[in-house]
Amino acid sequence: MRKEEIKRENIELKNEESLIQNALVPINIKDKEFGRFIEIYKCANDEFLRRLVNVKNEINETYGYDIITNITSRIKTPQSIINKMKKKHYDINYKNLVQNIDDIAGIRIVCPFQSDIFAIKDIIEEMEDIKIIEEKDYIKNPKQSGYSAYHLIVEIPIIYNEKELYVKAEVQIRTMTMDLWATAEHKMRYKSKKKLSWIDSKRLSLYAKVINLLDKKVIKMYKKQKETVLY
Ligand code: GTP
Ligand code: MG
Repeated sequence: MRKEEIKRENIELKNEESLIQNALVPINIKDKEFGRFIEIYKCANDEFLRRLVNVKNEINETYGYDIITNITSRIKTPQSIINKMKKKHYDINYKNLVQNIDDIAGIRIVCPFQSDIFAIKDIIEEMEDIKIIEEKDYIKNPKQSGYSAYHLIVEIPIIYNEKELYVKAEVQIRTMTMDLWATAEHKMRYKSKKKLSWIDSKRLSLYAKVINLLDKKVIKMYKKQKETVLY
């Protein structure tokens, strides 16, 4: 379907037809309404996952190359949605949630090489009915922590109760080495009860650089061997 043919209907929460009846009422995560709301984001994740699996299979069949090593999706837990809203000082209502929390639906794509990241990003951008809201290139500009990946905030069209809705999702694209680093760092820095020492923090930043160098060296070697840029 072409972009202009799609009647855009964000989850605007204003009128009688809206999915959430009272957008400004405080959210109670135990409400049925909240569960129904989360369903919408699950649909978006499933739809996007389905498309990515198709992309992976098509490239595999055409080029004999596995551009995606792993795809995972997750829905932010109700409590972490509320925590994030509190942290950002938003009133806890559906309107603020829809408009300001971009990562309720989250998809992580892990691939072999850095060039694959950019190929996948291009493929996503070429999907005509997917709207790109925001892009963050933490490969060109790694975070201060050392974190590296390519992030997209997208809007995915889904059909929910016979209505077409556009639903936001955060897409993270990483190489296997970036994923290794981010997973380890996440466990050590965020999940650990023990605070990371200054020296370990420095080490992690250094390892992020080592991983980046490794990614670059390996792709260079791979390209030389294959004599084609991609696949
Ligand atoms: P949020 O308010 O959390 O959305 O931050 P942001 O808008 O700056 O989002 P950003 O795109 O930078 O990061 C979102 C997600 O990327 C996080 O939830 C993590 O999954 C991942 N991420 C970002 N920074 C780091 C980091 O330093 N370490 C690790 N391990 N993951 C990170
Ligand atoms: Mg974010």
